Amino acid sequence: MAGLANEEINRIQQAANIVEIIGSYVNLEKQGKNYFCICPFHDDHNPSMSVSEEKGLYTCFVCHKTGNVFSFVRDFENVSFIEAVKIVASKVGIEFETGYKETNKYDKHYEAIELALKFYQNNLKSEDGKKAREYLKRRGITDEIIEEFNIGFAPNSYDTITKLLINKGFDEELLISTGLAARNNTVYDLFRNRITFPIHNPQGKPVGFSSRIYEDVNEAKYINTKETAIFKKGKILFNYHRAQNEARRLKYLLVVEGQMDAIRVYSSGIKNVVATMGTALTEDHIKLLKKLNVKIVLCMDNDEAGEKATIQNGEALSQAGVDLAVLRISDAKDPDEYILKHSKDEFVDAINNAVTYFDFKLNYFKKDKNLNKVEDVSKYINQIVKELNKSNDEVLIDLTVNELSSQYGIDKNVLLNQIIKVEAPKITKIEQKKEKKLSKNQRLASILLYYMMNDTKYIKLYEQELGYIPDDNYGEIANDILAFFLKYNYINIADFITYEISKEYYENVLDIIDTNIKVELNDAEYVGIINKIKIWIDENKINELKEKVKSISDINEQLKIADEIAKIKKRMCQNEES
Ligand code: GTP
Ligand code: MN
Repeated sequence: MAGLANEEINRIQQAANIVEIIGSYVNLEKQGKNYFCICPFHDDHNPSMSVSEEKGLYTCFVCHKTGNVFSFVRDFENVSFIEAVKIVASKVGIEFETGYKETNKYDKHYEAIELALKFYQNNLKSEDGKKAREYLKRRGITDEIIEEFNIGFAPNSYDTITKLLINKGFDEELLISTGLAARNNTVYDLFRNRITFPIHNPQGKPVGFSSRIYEDVNEAKYINTKETAIFKKGKILFNYHRAQNEARRLKYLLVVEGQMDAIRVYSSGIKNVVATMGTALTEDHIKLLKKLNVKIVLCMDNDEAGEKATIQNGEALSQAGVDLAVLRISDAKDPDEYILKHSKDEFVDAINNAVTYFDFKLNYFKKDKNLNKVEDVSKYINQIVKELNKSNDEVLIDLTVNELSSQYGIDKNVLLNQIIKVEAPKITKIEQKKEKKLSKNQRLASILLYYMMNDTKYIKLYEQELGYIPDDNYGEIANDILAFFLKYNYINIADFITYEISKEYYENVLDIIDTNIKVELNDAEYVGIINKIKIWIDENKINELKEKVKSISDINEQLKIADEIAKIKKRMCQNEES
């Protein structure tokens, strides 16, 4: 972990209460000494993750994820270890500078986008951006909003940004691969004469742009960055990085179609909003949304396309088990127009009145039907029965059947007969971690190491009595525990694993913790294990000596070795007795 100040990380770890940090992501409930939650790392339905405040650890008893506050944030936020340390530091209010710069093979891409963003931003304020500014003003986009969203203006020129970046040392291929430029004999700017809206990845780094015309011209209204190494449309939701904390706080997230809608909703004060940028939600989008562990309120445009998008996204979200509501606005074509025409408060009221996805469908299926006609009623009822067949919610089924039967005069039993009881959705099979086949001795070594990670007295005993473990993996880990102790003069699991970054090694340590976390520490047992490992060491020695004998012809040498073997065997007997 070259360059990282260990003492600094230590300080952050000590200041961070694991229950508070994990509790800022998921709902924790106290049971006895520990806290429990739905495990965010597998498709969990019952709380199977426990969090120990005392040990500074979390463990899932189903998917076996284990770790400390940093690994939780790293895996939950999908960031690097160092990013996770920074996030925890900011949550506990510690200024943290590693002086350690992570290099990323796309650093140049990010840098190019960042420079373009700054350039466009300044350009909007220049004489060149006058008309674009006027347009934004007409739409009620204030200077504050322009600042907050880093809105800019790409000049009406063939290759201004291309030349600028090439002068700064970027090469043409890089500009093309960031989606800022394209080649047609010569290299030219992709965004020309357009208002630019930077798009950020979930970690808040700008990775691309959406750009809009501002005059009545016969061109695509929006041109967005094409798919690049750092801009993956299917993984990015506009405004996600700004919205996530507020969504967790308010326990819901609003999903709209256009970035102008998100900008309007956000700047009216409803900050828990993201935009899909006109595409259907992908599996990766849904993963991002699920990570927030909040209700999703879908608010697509008030047109037929918006209705289709509601059904398409709604199906995907509800199948993924997301708590879902639908808001269909009326009297305006989209949330942007709605807020301008009405008010933020009226929009909040509308959000509060959002219906369940099921109720939305009940209504949706009535469209294009004349429910005074028997034929259409039959079609309608069949559609709903089909929906009910997807549900396990007995109450919902009962209520709906009663409603339909009284509204359309159909015998309840006829309806109920059509509803096939479906089995509860199968919990997605968790990729069971391959149980590593451990020998009896390895199993003992694993317990020994777990003891050592918990208390320095066990490290001292190990040092006096053994000094090593005859196994490459466990021997290595024992050395590191000892090194940690010698360096810091204390030990605890959470701090120890904080210093392990190498993936392969980390997994080994986590395995040890995972398999032994329920083992109760007891001195006598520990000494027993030490003795058994001594025997293991001796067995290894005897085997080595026996091999050695085979290659020696001198009878005296052979006798010496035989004597040595006898001594070891005697010692082993003593150990076995103790
Ligand atoms: P305004 O007209 O500026 O209010 O836009 P909007 O936010 O209402 O967007 P609209 O509902 O027209 O479209 C939704 C989203 O789809 C936009 O935010 C864009 O990201 C995307 N989009 C719209 N038109 C185009 C287009 O012509 N090309 C591309 N690539 N994307 C578009
Ligand atoms: Mn709009």
